[in-house]
Amino acid sequence: MKYVVAAAPGKLILFGEHAVVYGYPCLVSALDQRIQVRVSFLKKDDLVIAAPQLGIKKFKIKINAFGNKSIPKELSFLVAGVKRFYQKYHLQKGLSIATQCQFSFKFGFGSSSAVMIALLLALAKLYQIKLTKKQVFKLAYKAVLEVQKVGSGFDLAAALWGGTLLYQKPAKLVKPIKIKNLPLLVCYSGIKADTPTLIRQVLELKRKKPQKIKAIFKKIRQIVFQAKTYLEKEKWPELGKLMNENQKLLQKLNVSTPLLNKLLNTALKAGAWGAKISGAGGGDNIIILAPQAKRKAVAEALKKAGGKIIKVKLNSQGASCESHF
Ligand code: PMV
Repeated sequence: MKYVVAAAPGKLILFGEHAVVYGYPCLVSALDQRIQVRVSFLKKDDLVIAAPQLGIKKFKIKINAFGNKSIPKELSFLVAGVKRFYQKYHLQKGLSIATQCQFSFKFGFGSSSAVMIALLLALAKLYQIKLTKKQVFKLAYKAVLEVQKVGSGFDLAAALWGGTLLYQKPAKLVKPIKIKNLPLLVCYSGIKADTPTLIRQVLELKRKKPQKIKAIFKKIRQIVFQAKTYLEKEKWPELGKLMNENQKLLQKLNVSTPLLNKLLNTALKAGAWGAKISGAGGGDNIIILAPQAKRKAVAEALKKAGGKIIKVKLNSQGASCESHF
């Protein structure tokens, strides 16, 4: 095989962020926007990476010299993925990698997890190593933790399995939720969130007030299970109410910001059933559920308040190998 192209979707977390880091369940959905990774062998024993959307035209190191040259931060996930794969299967052939992304890396749609999953699928195909999804997940999760130290792996699961999932770490539970429709609005706040920092902040809070935080996580777990039922039954007003309840709990975890709160209130005032942040907080996106007749007004109000409506479809297909030659 000369080259392989694999692709994986971005994600949005619907319910259960932060609690999922401590083993509680969450609901996550895959996006219709994907990252492609193309891998091919090189004659020389080099690792060459081109990731133009990350501002990296060409980066080159010796393959298997992973620790010897400082890796640009933007490429740390890709390099960690190659390292895990090469070390696990004792490989040494030179490798060329090129990435292409349908969404901006700043949106918090899980570009690092999508790139990691697409890379590992492509490598497995290139080397003709048969891996189950669980095996791919395990490799990917270890590589992500090596770079990021913290995280539940929910984003990797969404990239790999796709659809909408009830997830518990580390892929202890990956249950596809059967839904036909998920009419959420997605609004980018304009601020890039720093997920590891927010995870550490919540950890700090949990250290100081363990009982209080545990009680919050337990309430979030109840919301996640209830939300699963409402999603399946398309009970939108009820689901919206749960989004507001989850948001209140996230506010108690101190991860919302005045800007996010302003956008959330704007959406509710304009007639949304419910709205919450999606993800670690601090910035990135909010998700909104509104009656069909109010969606336009909600979107307009959010734009006026400084938000950017992003057109994405949820509940989309998981990772796949797209072509090989
Ligand atoms: O900020 P995002 O969209 O990557 O979501 C982070 C969700 C957390 O629960 C805070 C972290 C995690 O890894 O589960």
